Amino acid sequence: MRQAGRYLPEYREVRRRVSFLDLCRDVDLAAEVSLQPFRRFSPDGVIFFSDILVPVQAMGARVEFGKEGPRLTHPVRTGDDVLRLRRFDPAGELRFTGEILKRLRGEVGDRAAVIGFAGAPWTLACYLIEGGGSKSFAAIKEMMGLGQRTLEGLLNLLADVVGDVLSFQIASGAQAVQIFDTWAGELTREDYRRWALPATVRAIAGIRRSDQPVILYANGCSHILEAMNESGADVLSVDWRIPLSEARRRVPGRPLQGNLDPGILLGGTGEVRRRVRAMLAETGGLSHVVNLGHGVLPQTPVESAEAFFASVRSSGVAETTDAAAEAGA
Ligand code: CP3
Repeated sequence: MRQAGRYLPEYREVRRRVSFLDLCRDVDLAAEVSLQPFRRFSPDGVIFFSDILVPVQAMGARVEFGKEGPRLTHPVRTGDDVLRLRRFDPAGELRFTGEILKRLRGEVGDRAAVIGFAGAPWTLACYLIEGGGSKSFAAIKEMMGLGQRTLEGLLNLLADVVGDVLSFQIASGAQAVQIFDTWAGELTREDYRRWALPATVRAIAGIRRSDQPVILYANGCSHILEAMNESGADVLSVDWRIPLSEARRRVPGRPLQGNLDPGILLGGTGEVRRRVRAMLAETGGLSHVVNLGHGVLPQTPVESAEAFFASVRSSGVAETTDAAAEAGA
């Protein structure tokens, strides 16, 4: 999940001087911002600072970040619009992301895993077609009926781009990669299987990797969990609307990640401690990556993030990674 961001005063300080997209491209600053939460909380994983829309920009789309979040100024609506987008070589167009990952590996050493990421094809298609965030997803849903060939073409292109981008991140030092399907939960189970899942399968199959795990996150995933389990991902990351015990039952043997509601971090440190204990009890102590069910909200008090880590560590259920244990963390 998003680790860095506006809940940290040191992040806000950097952002006073530089725009969000410039920050993503500045190797020194992006590495610094990635390390801010690592210095404060010593998590077992450090996600590199970037955004799921950075590769979309490299495909030729115009992306802007304003107060209301991302905006794509020329939404994709026709086959010609798709043809104007291109598959690119990440080693050329996104060299800076490779440099950030290399820098992080040097700084973090064996103390934590460095994590790469990309948006899932479906979620990237939502941004490209809607032109930004959406409540109804009217434009892409219209295309699911009236523009099927166009949508298929776009999803296939995005799947190849995601495979290329994650392969490059792994070649640059990422030790695990996460695919964010933020808008997958907007689909019925049938439509998830028809549209989002095949593109995710294609993206994951396209990742050149040795033993680096792929984590698949979907927001609002409770109705599509079994389908996600057919994606080829090694770990499924779930939001807070599904009890972990139920997720465990429905995808037996599959390592899970998640799922504290990030909103709990707004309700005081006592509540954080209580809810973390309840979450850990639900994992059954089985292969589980403790995490939030979505990104940290900008209003989050830093003490609440501290309380999250402290209560996980003091629980007795949690184990540090081998690397962290060896490093004496
Ligand atoms: O934690 C990290 O350091 C990793 C960086 C990271 C960001 N975005 C930085 C960011 C990651 C992993 C993402 C993923 C991302 N970006 C997703 C998928 C995960 C999710 O949250 O669902 C999505 C949908 C996006 C697109 C996006 N980027 C949105 C909707 C927004 C606006 C959100 C907001 O809070 O304003 C962004 C901007 C963004 N990406 C910020 C950060 C730190 C805030 C930008 C700022 O400094 O103003």
